[in-house]
Amino acid sequence: MPHIPLIAGNWKMHGLSQAVSEALAIDAAARQSSARIALFPPATLLHRLSQALAEAGSSIITGGQDCHCEADGAFTGDVSAEMLKDAGAGMVILGHSERRHGHGEPCALVAKKVLGALRVGLEPVICIGETLEERLAGETHAVLNRQLRASLPEELTGQVFHVAYEPVWAIGTGHIPTDEQVVDAMVLVKSYLEERFHGQVTPHVLYGGSVKPDNAAHLLTLDGVGGLLVGGASLKAADFNRIIAAA
Ligand code: G3P
Repeated sequence: MPHIPLIAGNWKMHGLSQAVSEALAIDAAARQSSARIALFPPATLLHRLSQALAEAGSSIITGGQDCHCEADGAFTGDVSAEMLKDAGAGMVILGHSERRHGHGEPCALVAKKVLGALRVGLEPVICIGETLEERLAGETHAVLNRQLRASLPEELTGQVFHVAYEPVWAIGTGHIPTDEQVVDAMVLVKSYLEERFHGQVTPHVLYGGSVKPDNAAHLLTLDGVGGLLVGGASLKAADFNRIIAAA
């Protein structure tokens, strides 16, 4: 493993004001851990949560769950990377399958958003992953290669970023891929990056999809897994802290 693991919690569209206290309870566990910990609250909580963590002297990094590719403009309902940064973010998730499939985001747009994030110094966490249909049709490698090729701009050379492999069929379903399937995806991502960027990038490659306190430690032992992107199990400090402890 090239780096200390990154354990990231994606709260998706969950969390009202009182969720800030969950983040502070997560901070207590984060202090005992040598892993990097990141939390991605909904945009409405980002500033408040970042501020509360900073005031507590926490090392938890906060991030946005998406951003627009432009710095500002007439884009009703959108949030730019600059705005995320201004609200305290250090990272941003881009190309999550819930954006790709739920909002029809093509890879080319993800790549533009990555540029927007890099422009302000946010670390992008770029998600890729195949659907069940694609896996059953034997298209997993083709899909992952295509997503990597089209979602990662050349400008990532020498930059800090992360890739999260999240098989769509494992997200929120309780279905975890086999060890071989996870390792296969890690090998694919690393070989792709090596071939294209010739050692000029060394991202964490995260696994995401139904990570729970009971499977986190095992997933982290798999070859190439540099961290975890956790959805549902990051909402409660009691669960997420067990995942942090596993790292
Ligand atoms: O981004 C994390 C996510 O998509 C995985 O969600 O709930 O299966 O851990 P979950």
